[in-house]
Amino acid sequence: MTLLGETISTNGAKQEGEILSIRGGQPLSGTVEVKGAKNLVTKAMVAALLGEEPSVLRDVPDISDVAVVRSLLEVHGVRVDEGPERGSLRLDPQDVESAHFEEIDAHAGASRIPILFCGPLLHRLGQAFIPDLGGCRIGDRPIDFHLDALRKFGAVVEKQPSGIRLSAPRGLHGANIHLPYPSVGATEQVLLTAVRAAGTTELRNAAIEPEIMDLIAVLQKMGAIISYEPNRVILIEGVDSLRGYDHRAIFDRNEAASWAAAALATDGEIFVGGAKQQEMLTFLNVVRKVGGDFDIREDGILFRRGGELRGVTVETDVHPGFMTDWQQPLIVALTQAHGRSVVHETVYENRFGFTQALVKMGAQISVYPNGLQEGPRRVPRRSLEQAAVIDGPTPLHGADITVPDLRGGYSHVIAALTAEGESVVRNIGIIRRGYADFLDKLSALGADFDVIG
Ligand code: EPU
Repeated sequence: MTLLGETISTNGAKQEGEILSIRGGQPLSGTVEVKGAKNLVTKAMVAALLGEEPSVLRDVPDISDVAVVRSLLEVHGVRVDEGPERGSLRLDPQDVESAHFEEIDAHAGASRIPILFCGPLLHRLGQAFIPDLGGCRIGDRPIDFHLDALRKFGAVVEKQPSGIRLSAPRGLHGANIHLPYPSVGATEQVLLTAVRAAGTTELRNAAIEPEIMDLIAVLQKMGAIISYEPNRVILIEGVDSLRGYDHRAIFDRNEAASWAAAALATDGEIFVGGAKQQEMLTFLNVVRKVGGDFDIREDGILFRRGGELRGVTVETDVHPGFMTDWQQPLIVALTQAHGRSVVHETVYENRFGFTQALVKMGAQISVYPNGLQEGPRRVPRRSLEQAAVIDGPTPLHGADITVPDLRGGYSHVIAALTAEGESVVRNIGIIRRGYADFLDKLSALGADFDVIG
């Protein structure tokens, strides 16, 4: 499979460069450009299925999650070509058809995005089959909110050993949905289903991440009627048909935060082209508190240390809080900060596994699986709060480590670049799920590494 010229296997990994030998201890300095956000682009690609005309999506990053969604769209008859400018895609859904089970099943385990095909496929074909989901192993990652919402729209959901089969014998109708938690994916599920359902949908306790707002912008361009009310309420008035869109994706603030943390960890200076202040306010506050410095410019943000790094206390949260995807790269920088840092993870129940590799490299990190405080849980359904306590600064040394997931894996590479000596980092393919041109960017920043397998 190719996406914008790269070779990618259907399990989402690029077929070369799986193991890196990294010689660390040098600052990373230079410029990197961030393109469209993984967590918007893949959803906007699914939205194209709902239109009756082709859509154009710009600033599509060259990542394997995009390749997986592209391939899944293609097996359903969507024609996907290069768009009018470099890094853009043209998605033509005019010949959408049911895919064969084997073709869909080839995507099992490759990504979590297929669950978002449910609503659009039910509208287009009256039925859908969704393979077993993949994505990062950072907790249970259930889909109960998605399935409950789809049932409220009138879908019949049948769980099968290899996936989920859905049908809508009487079509889909608007619904009143109150999410138990402002889930990003479930909010997207509701948006992508409600826009063409008959009648009005009221979604309460919706996620309001900037990528969701950008998806709403995409859907509005297609002809949807969506209003955003106070207190996480979104109203969607269903319409009979949608047209295509032409949209430039919002920048990837997770990638921007990752490179920022790399500058802090390695004591370098990185200009992140395409990064914008508004979507990163919460992250920038933490950068400042930890002793980092930044210059906001017209075309991006420059990150560096402002002096000695200091320990900080951070709690991950839904937007506008500190994103869960920012904590892993930040923790690498915190191993170099003076004093104690505490990071509370409240979104996923198992997102500190990556710290084991940092400890192997010399970091002092203790993980408290049940958190540090008793008392009421923000998410009463499950005990999500975990805490990591980081004492620093600690010199890091090279080690042989294996990347566990996307953000944790990025952090391992940055830790290896911060560490004195040589590291071997395995399973690098996972990082290409979400970081475009990863090795080229590392080279541009002066990283010293070889691809050894
Ligand atoms: N949850 C449920 N039931 C559901 C759905 C979610 O219990 O049906 C729980 C999850 O288990 C989790 C919490 O709700 O504890 C939040 O999950 P959410 O649905 O918000 O996450 P997601 O849509 O699966 C997206 C991003 C993640 C990002 C989260 C939070 C994509 C493809 N993924 O996941 O990104 O961490 O929102 O912002 O958009 C990443 O980029 O590395 C990544 C993991």
